[in-house]
Amino acid sequence: MPRSVKDIDLRGKRVLIRVDFNVPIKNGVIGDDTRIRSSLPTIQYALEQGAKSVILASHLGRPKGKPNPEYSLQPIASHLSTLLNRPVTFDDPKADGVVLLENLRFNPGEEKNDPEFAARLAAMADVYINDAFGSAHRAHASTEGIVRHVKEAGAGLLMAAEVEYLGRVLAAPDRPFVAILGGAKVSDKLEVIQNLVPRVDALLIGGAMAYTFFKARGLNVGKSLVEDDLLDAAREVEEMARTRNLRFELPVDHVVAAKLEAGIPTMTLAVEDRTIGDRMGLDIGPKTIERYRSIIATAQTVTWNGPMGVFEIDAFAAGTIEVAKAVAAVDGVTVIGGGDSIAAVAKAGVTDRITHISTGGGASLEFLGGRKLPGVEALTRDNQQFSA
Ligand code: 3PG
Repeated sequence: MPRSVKDIDLRGKRVLIRVDFNVPIKNGVIGDDTRIRSSLPTIQYALEQGAKSVILASHLGRPKGKPNPEYSLQPIASHLSTLLNRPVTFDDPKADGVVLLENLRFNPGEEKNDPEFAARLAAMADVYINDAFGSAHRAHASTEGIVRHVKEAGAGLLMAAEVEYLGRVLAAPDRPFVAILGGAKVSDKLEVIQNLVPRVDALLIGGAMAYTFFKARGLNVGKSLVEDDLLDAAREVEEMARTRNLRFELPVDHVVAAKLEAGIPTMTLAVEDRTIGDRMGLDIGPKTIERYRSIIATAQTVTWNGPMGVFEIDAFAAGTIEVAKAVAAVDGVTVIGGGDSIAAVAKAGVTDRITHISTGGGASLEFLGGRKLPGVEALTRDNQQFSA
């Protein structure tokens, strides 16, 4: 576990907090501000502890090392000021109070993890706190290199919660432990599947990625999305699951349609039903929902990443919404990651009944896939050996 912000004396210090404010912004208007809100506790904690200044640093989008007004963090400064109910100075690292720096990725040194840029960032502050779990899978100057140049470094409250809950799921889950994985592609989740199979009691698969498994079993999948280059990998996963004796569940029925389009006529078929013709599977069916619901109900730990169908269209949303409700009803630890699963629990109105909602997309998947995250590792190693 990395050192926590709570173990560091912040009184009178200049504290640089790496946050992940990579939120959707269109024409200066912020869409979902969850990531900004998620770091408020750390910012408020530093202020309550009497930090002289709190310098917030983030990236936004991928401006490729050059200033670009489209990716400016300026709109976030005023929104943050409203959320904190205090002034936020924009891009002046010497100011006291709360400061928000301009997009780190306007400098080519950020993504290159350039030591000079890292040292420049470190020189702005006495203490470095990383609260940007969503960026922890990137070895960039503000997430990794900087730790080599600061006197004191620690994890923010969000970072600590993410590492604790995701870590607990992997290392010491209460049993039964049920993992639910969905979304379009097996390739996005293959590492996670391989890392979870030895750990879980049941693995429930939904979303288009189920069709690669069905095709690998020789079923007719119509025009459903399949990754042909992963058929062998799918067979290997099934074999691994069989030898470990876990419940590896694929849908038993599905909602199919000729096209991915709102208002298109739909049918519910058993997955073996060859009358699928050239239709495609777009959601799990009612029998699968019932089956998954009953397995989820037995769980003491659940991790879920990826939707069960194309839930943005109402006709294909039932599977994802019902799984969201089933997860919310679990009386144990529930950890959800991935933008679509998060949106689904919000749509089902059960967000506050989930134990932990991860702000990391790629970072959560890499963590659950068993990879070490450079941003977390940097905080964990003894930084004394690097300090000047
Ligand atoms: C994310 O949105 O997943 C993080 O902010 C990382 O962004 P990146 O994929 O552009 O590094």
